[in-house]
Amino acid sequence: MEVAQEWPEPIVRVQSLADAEAIPERYIKPPSERPNLNPGTAMAAGETECLPVVDLGGLRGGAAERQATMRAVSDACREWGFFQAVNHGVSPALTAAVMEAWRQFFHLPMAEKQAYANSPTSFEGYGSRLGVKKGAILDWGDYFFLQLLPQSIKNYDKWPTLPASLRETTEAYGDELVKLCGVIKEVLSLTLGMDEGFLHRGFGEPGACLRVNFYPKCPQPELTLGLSPHSDPGGMTVLLTDEHVKGLQVRKGDDWITVQPIPDALIVNIGDQIQVLTNATYKSVEHRVTVNATTERLSLAFFYNPDDDLPIEPAAELVTPTSPPVYKPMTFKEYKMYMRMLGPCGKSHVDLHKAA
Ligand code: OGA
Ligand code: NI
Repeated sequence: MEVAQEWPEPIVRVQSLADAEAIPERYIKPPSERPNLNPGTAMAAGETECLPVVDLGGLRGGAAERQATMRAVSDACREWGFFQAVNHGVSPALTAAVMEAWRQFFHLPMAEKQAYANSPTSFEGYGSRLGVKKGAILDWGDYFFLQLLPQSIKNYDKWPTLPASLRETTEAYGDELVKLCGVIKEVLSLTLGMDEGFLHRGFGEPGACLRVNFYPKCPQPELTLGLSPHSDPGGMTVLLTDEHVKGLQVRKGDDWITVQPIPDALIVNIGDQIQVLTNATYKSVEHRVTVNATTERLSLAFFYNPDDDLPIEPAAELVTPTSPPVYKPMTFKEYKMYMRMLGPCGKSHVDLHKAA
């Protein structure tokens, strides 16, 4: 599969459209894909459900508390593919500082940001679309994408130099999240009944990247989405969001559950590669982002991934005559090509990858 070198159409920054009276046609979703921003009573049941909250402080407690916490993580990842982590060990001062640095970046003059304009070859830098399909309907968001691991592909030339605090806070935040994901990987391994290094071996040398999403306010939020439904292609994702602005919705059956942000929480979700490695024991669940007319929203999505070149397939220990392998082997590098061609589109990528 060929990777496109350039975007198929001139890039428009969504931020430059935020003050218009109407949104351009290119952002208007077909009626069936629009969000229901004012759910009536029919939706009330779905609205009252909320994502499991797990106090990860319990992992540092006594044996019984540790067991219960591991069980809560595992249940959430089987049933929801998502949980909100509190007491995760990443300092609130650091999360506040890294959010503030990126907020300042997106408020720099446009010319300053354009110096980092990205292309579909690596996606690193300042971007405003994900897929490369000409004529695609676009999402209402800009982003900044950076590779953090492995060290060999980290390229500081792609990192903004302003604001001055950005590099140091992003680096420190990335280091903390690599540690946190390492711990979660152990918990997910143990609760599968394996040894704690099970997923670590399946991943090989971990990769990590950061996508900072900036969703400007939107004059017609009922017609569009900040990010279309998708599952995350990598291993697992940890999301840091604005605590005052809702926007993330998670699929639960036929409903979209709006995530209620909790101060200082991190939202953890399973990506497609852990779904494949665990033969669908842990679920990579679809999610999307809605926007609103009054407030911009910032989120930092940290993606923790397997080695680019290692074939990822259902682990032999989890394959039995009664649970045959659901997926065929594919490297993460090959897998990402689908995402880059098509942009966010539900769970079609992981479905493409199914064993016959
Ligand atoms: C993502 C994502 C959710 C959000 O970046 O993959 O799902 O709330 N972001 O920005
Ligand atoms: Ni996502």
